[in-house]
Amino acid sequence: AIDITKLRGATGYITIDQGFKNTGSCQSSITFLDGEKGILRYRGYSIEDLAEKASFIEVSYAVIFGELPTKTQLEKFEDDIRKHTLVNEEMKDIIDGFPKNAHPMGILSSLTSALTAFNPKPVDVDSQEAIYNAVCKTIAKFSVLSTWVHRKREGFPMNYYDNSKGYVENFLTMMFAIPTEEYKVNPVVVDALDKLLILHADHEQNCSTSTVRVVGSSHAGLFASISAGVSALWGPLHGGANQAVIEMLEAIKADGGDVEKFIAKAKDKDDPFRLMGFGHRVYKNFDPRAKIIKKAADDVLAALGVNDPVLDIAKTLEKAALEDEYFKARNLYPNVDFYSGIIYRALGIPTEMFTVMFAVGRLPGWIAQWIEMRLNSEPIGRPRQVYTGENLRAFKEISNR
Ligand code: ACO
Repeated sequence: AIDITKLRGATGYITIDQGFKNTGSCQSSITFLDGEKGILRYRGYSIEDLAEKASFIEVSYAVIFGELPTKTQLEKFEDDIRKHTLVNEEMKDIIDGFPKNAHPMGILSSLTSALTAFNPKPVDVDSQEAIYNAVCKTIAKFSVLSTWVHRKREGFPMNYYDNSKGYVENFLTMMFAIPTEEYKVNPVVVDALDKLLILHADHEQNCSTSTVRVVGSSHAGLFASISAGVSALWGPLHGGANQAVIEMLEAIKADGGDVEKFIAKAKDKDDPFRLMGFGHRVYKNFDPRAKIIKKAADDVLAALGVNDPVLDIAKTLEKAALEDEYFKARNLYPNVDFYSGIIYRALGIPTEMFTVMFAVGRLPGWIAQWIEMRLNSEPIGRPRQVYTGENLRAFKEISNR
């Protein structure tokens, strides 16, 4: 328990709210989230409608600029993104410098930051045109770099955007196509990935988004702020959970498939193990994204005819946890990461790339939140603390220590 009498800083009383469980850091008009009722809306549009009826680029436009685009606006936006898909060739030398087995999120964070070297001019937030160009450039380059991270790890030659294809189709081709084989994109896969990206597009002040806002609040550039967001997303308690889910399911399989044993471990307070993909800071009823993704996962597995024992374990584990008193009492439901990893796996995306996929989806949210923070002229993010260390002490000469 916190001793209230100790909540004094040098200049008065200070609120301690570790993990910011009840502290709002900003006002925002981007995403509405009701964790009790399981509601998520971007710019007022329900996540269910967007996932069913819109494309990822359409949703990105709405998240960033506040309104769904007209047909003309959307076509122009898609075109303008394509115009920025050439990445400076020197970026390839930077990629070459990484060991092949480096984690994709580490490479992506570094590459995003490296973009500042080739785009040193800060975004002029007083100019709508400058903001629009920065948005197109960031979406274009980030998607190319994300696919190059995969190609580097696979030892594939780097490739280029095909301007005749749509964003998601291009993304998949950029990732998987190799010169010696014809690569055909499956429309079921395009549709599933489009949905997944839409469902990740923003989620108000989560850990990575808050990071982007705080870093940007010092007027650090857009690429530098997003690079910090990628690092924050990497952790297994945040975006890294989708990788951790599949690793957990594989561990259960290797151990003989006894889900009850792992549920017991997750309930044991002396054991640090948690059921990955369960629980959420804000959703205490259900995660509305998980509902949509669960259906998409079923559709994709059926359409691709995937038969994977790890996915069977996922279903058994989900059922057992949902019926367990410990999980019921704490309102612990599967979150978006529980099912997204299952789809990525079915699409042939390697486990270590899962969080990169999350980052590609979250990018419009990071951009929108960065712009909003700057347009609102928010002050620099600088939390306080309550000092609990030593009082003034006499300095001891090194010979006397
Ligand atoms: N497995 C077992 N117990 C859990 C789990 C879990 N996955 N999640 C929470 N609990 C328990 C806690 O031990 C705690 O129990 P107690 O009240 O008996 O002490 C209670 O549920 C509340 O948990 P907190 O840690 O206080 O909840 P918090 O809001 O801080 O954490 C978090 C949320 C980090 C998501 C947590 O549920 C977790 O670690 N889940 C697993 C990782 C995960 O799936 N992360 C992805 C989140 S979604 C996203 O980033 C897109």
